[in-house]
Amino acid sequence: MRFDFQALAAHQLRLASTPLVQLCAEPDRSRALGRSTLGLHLNLARQRLDPEALQALLAQASRLGIPAGFRRLVEGEQVNPTEARPALHTALRSALGQSETARAARAEVMVMRERMEALSAALEASTVTDIVSVGIGGSDLGPRLVVDALREVASPRFRIHFLTNVDGSALARLLPQLDRRSTAVLLVSKSFTTQETLLNGQLLREWLGDDPRLFAVTAHPERAAAFGVAPERVLPMWDWVGGRFSLWSAVGWSIRLALGSSGFDQLLAGAAAMDAHALESPLADNLPVLHALVALWNRNLIGLPTQAVLPYDERLALLPAFLQQLVMESLGKRVRLDGSEVLGETVPVVWGGTGTNSQHSFFQALHQGTQVVPCDFIGVLRPAHGYQGNHRALLSNLLAQCEALASGSPNADPHRHYPGDRPSSLLLLDQLDPHSLGALLALYEHSVYVQALLWGINAFDQSGVELGKQLASQLLPAFSGGEPGPCDAVTRSLLAEIRPHLS
Ligand code: F6P
Repeated sequence: MRFDFQALAAHQLRLASTPLVQLCAEPDRSRALGRSTLGLHLNLARQRLDPEALQALLAQASRLGIPAGFRRLVEGEQVNPTEARPALHTALRSALGQSETARAARAEVMVMRERMEALSAALEASTVTDIVSVGIGGSDLGPRLVVDALREVASPRFRIHFLTNVDGSALARLLPQLDRRSTAVLLVSKSFTTQETLLNGQLLREWLGDDPRLFAVTAHPERAAAFGVAPERVLPMWDWVGGRFSLWSAVGWSIRLALGSSGFDQLLAGAAAMDAHALESPLADNLPVLHALVALWNRNLIGLPTQAVLPYDERLALLPAFLQQLVMESLGKRVRLDGSEVLGETVPVVWGGTGTNSQHSFFQALHQGTQVVPCDFIGVLRPAHGYQGNHRALLSNLLAQCEALASGSPNADPHRHYPGDRPSSLLLLDQLDPHSLGALLALYEHSVYVQALLWGINAFDQSGVELGKQLASQLLPAFSGGEPGPCDAVTRSLLAEIRPHLS
């Protein structure tokens, strides 16, 4: 069964001729299009929607069985059929699943948590001062975001570093900050075949020397053992956790080391509360479902090709990068689960930056450019600092931008005319702490899953990333004087140009 865009067409037509400024003049609109849960407030009043259009979208969510889809997820059914796997990231934080598969996964998670606690306590009791978490993509972005976002509530016990890029500049910049006698290295790779992580891992293994404080997190412990990590220093991952959904697992060990055991528990509890909300609340009050429906409305009905994520909080500066992977690796698909072509568009290009900085860089294009960009504005009501004047200025900018984009401002001078009608959602958090951050990230995870269900695509595979990796490995010999594997004439002539410059 496919999403019935025709059923929405009449609403889209009606609303296309109703400017947002007019919709936003309705006194009850903000309340009617606002929903709150767990200290998170989602306001859709500045979307080009009205309650009737939202009802029609909700009817599609119901028709396509979204509640049953959530149940399939948490019960560990094969929601990732191309890889013949469940996607049980909810089992990393919730005991919602009742099936044998979900319970077995949960039991393994609890054993892993105990081992992670024991290893963490041993590190805390040791002379280690610096932790380097080596990983890329899902083995980096989530933990890096959380550790950065919650710096204010983190324990000062460890300095946490992340090493990601295969570019040696990253390692060259990091090493002078470290002392090998007081550094522990966590190699985080679900597959333990990722080129970037293994190359950096080899260099760090040599750098650590005789008494390697080398640890690993992987779904392939045998590969970590072959690499030289002692089995008692390897924490498990499982094929039923997708990399971009894995910060709640031992992939987030750096989070545990930064926040302590109770902080990590709080993060998981926030995500678990959002899992329960997604699974149990009615569609019309369900934040991930509403968020996903708005994404489809903007992408497919209005036809907007990109989506901006604009956190008005420095602590969430890494959220756009995290969401780029979560959304674009999950939803960057052009075929449905059965292999047939998707009719129409799927994933938008996700991009963004923090407010107010972005106002002074790319907001010009948001206000007056030819492309309309729907925005997720994210704000935090209570700051973690005492600079109230700054905070008031921040929030007034946040509200002002939402209004300016929606309402515009007519001007006879075309250069000074603001067309308006530019939609946004506003997501306000009472405060940013481990619990609310866990809930926020789980909201986005579930929104991605709902979008995949609405489009009929698989959110949990990513075979599109393989071809480039394979070509790179074929080309590698050419960089040490050998012959490249099969490649085209353009690559061959570029290799000929590049090779004389290599030492
Ligand atoms: O290349 C993409 C990818 O496979 C992501 O899906 C994943 O998060 C990342 O690489 C890292 O993979 P691994 O954890 O296996 O090193």
